[in-house]
Amino acid sequence: MKVLAICGSLRAASYNRSLLRTAAELAPAGMEVEMAEIRGIPVFDEDLEKEGMPEAVAELRLRAKAADGLLIGCPEYNYGIAGPLKNAVDWLSRPHGEPRTPFINRPVAILGASMSLIGTARAQAQLRQTLQGCGALTMPSPEVYVIRAQDKFDAEGKLTDQQTRDAVGRLMAAFGTWIARLKG
Ligand code: FNR
Repeated sequence: MKVLAICGSLRAASYNRSLLRTAAELAPAGMEVEMAEIRGIPVFDEDLEKEGMPEAVAELRLRAKAADGLLIGCPEYNYGIAGPLKNAVDWLSRPHGEPRTPFINRPVAILGASMSLIGTARAQAQLRQTLQGCGALTMPSPEVYVIRAQDKFDAEGKLTDQQTRDAVGRLMAAFGTWIARLKG
């Protein structure tokens, strides 16, 4: 099965991208994880949408639709979903009413890393609600909230904390089961 891992941060040294790379590394047998970026997606504007889907959106949309599941690395900004990620989700949820956007009935899993002691819990809760609005089938558990990310990753972006690695591995195993169950 194919999973597209969408990084919700644009930052070159993003902890969330490193977390997604770890998830790809720890994916169960038979699951292939590809990385995707949201760089280049313009700020959503219904007038711009009328001119046609921007290239960066069209490309991400195609890749998302071709995947069996989506894995989203969710940063937290000011107690909520980081703007660039929310913007990308809004684009992918379009056109409104279209029965086959990349989210409709698609299995999604979320994880996130932040520098505080909250580990993106607030942003992930908001993202779950948004994905519900998009018609996605978001895996309810297990959840992964990486707190104090600056202590859990080394300078090369390797997740060095074994407990956190184990939690990511459990999430990926469960996501494989979730995708298989929803497909069957
Ligand atoms: C943050 N950060 C942050 N962290 C958190 O846990 N809760 C929060 O509400 C916020 N708020 C916030 C606002 C803004 C504008 C910035 C730039 C940052 C810190 C955040 O966790 C940190 O920058 C992470 O490194 C962002 O994720 P990436 O880019 O490393 O994936």
